[in-house]
Amino acid sequence: MKALLIFPLLWTVIDCANILAIFHMPSYSHQVVFQPIWRELSLRGHQVTVITSHPLNDPTLKNLTEIDVSALNLDIPKKMRLMHYIEKDQPIHVKVQKVVEVNYEIAEVLLSDKRVIGVYNNSASKFDLVLVQPYMPPTLFAIAAKLKLPFVGISSFGAFFPSYYAMGNPHPPSLYSDIYLPYHGRMTFSERLRSTLFYLWHRYYWTFHALPKCDQIAKKYLGHDLPYIGDIERNMSLLLLSNPILYERRPNVPTIIDLEMLHVKPVKPLPADLKQFLDNAKQGVIYFSLGSNVLSAGLTENLRKVLMEAFSELPYQVLWKFEDDKLPGKPKNVEIRKWIPQQDVLGKVVIFWMSLVGIISMSTG
Ligand SMILES: *[C@@H]1O[C@H](CO)[C@@H](O)[C@H](O)[C@H]1NC(C)=O
Ligand SMILES: *[C@@H]1O[C@H](CO)[C@@H](O)[C@H](O)[C@H]1NC(C)=O
Ligand SMILES: *[C@@H]1O[C@H](CO)[C@@H](O)[C@H](O)[C@H]1NC(C)=O
Repeated sequence: MKALLIFPLLWTVIDCANILAIFHMPSYSHQVVFQPIWRELSLRGHQVTVITSHPLNDPTLKNLTEIDVSALNLDIPKKMRLMHYIEKDQPIHVKVQKVVEVNYEIAEVLLSDKRVIGVYNNSASKFDLVLVQPYMPPTLFAIAAKLKLPFVGISSFGAFFPSYYAMGNPHPPSLYSDIYLPYHGRMTFSERLRSTLFYLWHRYYWTFHALPKCDQIAKKYLGHDLPYIGDIERNMSLLLLSNPILYERRPNVPTIIDLEMLHVKPVKPLPADLKQFLDNAKQGVIYFSLGSNVLSAGLTENLRKVLMEAFSELPYQVLWKFEDDKLPGKPKNVEIRKWIPQQDVLGKVVIFWMSLVGIISMSTG
């Protein structure tokens, strides 16, 4: 009798899934959050196929198939001058539209790639689950719908208005502003008003422009018998958010779950020159970085001046991720580097000023 009870339990323990992950955003800082997910799932015995621009290329991961799409999508943001729009002084709705347009292009090149077609057009493929990136226009969610599979969204940070809306999560814009906006904590009346206006515009744009366009692209490649993309978007089974330091926590429906820092790795020793700089700073160091997408070297002259003036008045040393050899007028207490081993530096600084979409918001703030 006991054996009969234990047998089905063992059965579930060894049950492995065949997972398709679509992490197509061509950006290192997002991919580092997803990499441990596909690595770990494959190590735990699941079969994982991932569409990514930043494969791990680790031959020891036997249960992992990486479809490297970097040759297809890595150049698209540059070609479409995305950063030109993000870094410069543009109204927020212009920036959001540009981000979405870049994603139409990415969806088209991916859906017409032979290897990706082999995934979605193969009736013999036996996936159980699809993982997707939720803060992008939902065009590629349609692959899950085409394969008639449940799908889970995993974000490398928080969620945008449309994701909360699609998940049926209450989202009063007067209480919680969007991650695109620079407002945090208790908003003033005018911030609440701006947040609400942005929300209304975003809903209008998403419903009448972005979704119909995504639907058109999805149907062009995946067939006209697909459900409407807006319905597919609302069909997400679970939404996992990560890095809560980048967004405000809020009450969520049970199908939205905040995860912690997925990308954090054990600290490694610093390069000698950097270590010396950090050790010699008596008052401590402020570390300033805009991440791998938004480049400090691409900031407007004006903004750069404001930052340098502010830095020069501080009693601290400033370590600035600045992607150029020279910074004209660089204050004495500022040290620049094109690339910085961020996680290893963080334990040694007094303040970390970073931005994910901070620059997107600066112009509206
Ligand atoms: C691959 O998955 C199988 C089970 O599906 C597991 O037994 C094996 O240990 C996995 N191999 C690696 C290298 O993760
Ligand atoms: C997908 O498969 C169907 C039937 O197997 C075929 O007619 C169609 O051309 C294929 N589509 C693509 C994009 O390869
Ligand atoms: C929703 O997902 C299920 C699989 O979990 C699928 O059978 C159904 O067709 C999907 N509906 C829409 C509108 O995508």
